[in-house]
Amino acid sequence: MKNNPVVPYILILAFGIGLIFFMSLTGAENKKEIAAEKEGGGEKTEATDDSALVQSCISCHGADLSGAFGPNLHGLDEAHIVDVLTNGIPNTPMEPGMKNEAEAKAIAKYISTLK
Ligand code: HEC
Repeated sequence: MKNNPVVPYILILAFGIGLIFFMSLTGAENKKEIAAEKEGGGEKTEATDDSALVQSCISCHGADLSGAFGPNLHGLDEAHIVDVLTNGIPNTPMEPGMKNEAEAKAIAKYISTLK
């Protein structure tokens, strides 16, 4: 072992593998925690179900729809949201027919519950 030039590389390799293993373990733990959170408690579960409706919106309007690339959606009139989702806004990413009317209504209702 003495003065073997390969030893440091083996140590680094072992450390790297250990680190990757550790990170994948903590990652799995986090996933379990998130899953547990989603399963838990009446009110929360409801919100989680409805928030699935707006999964496609958060990329532009922000995780809580309070605005990012697209404007804040909190406090908008439900009828206006339905109108935007079905008829669109010309020359913006909000294209006509993004959602059918039933979906649009469900989304509008959900957004109106956000504070
Ligand atoms: C590709 C990005 C993008 C996505 C995805 C997107 N939006 Fe938008 N949205 C915008 C932008 C940009 C505007 C602002 C348009 C303008 O200039 O009037 C906007 C405007 C709106 C408006 C009008 C806001 C107002 O103040 O009148 C509503 C309502 C809206 N979006 C709802 C949604 C909903 C609900 C979803 C998901 C189903 C969604 N958007 C998905 C980019 C996006």
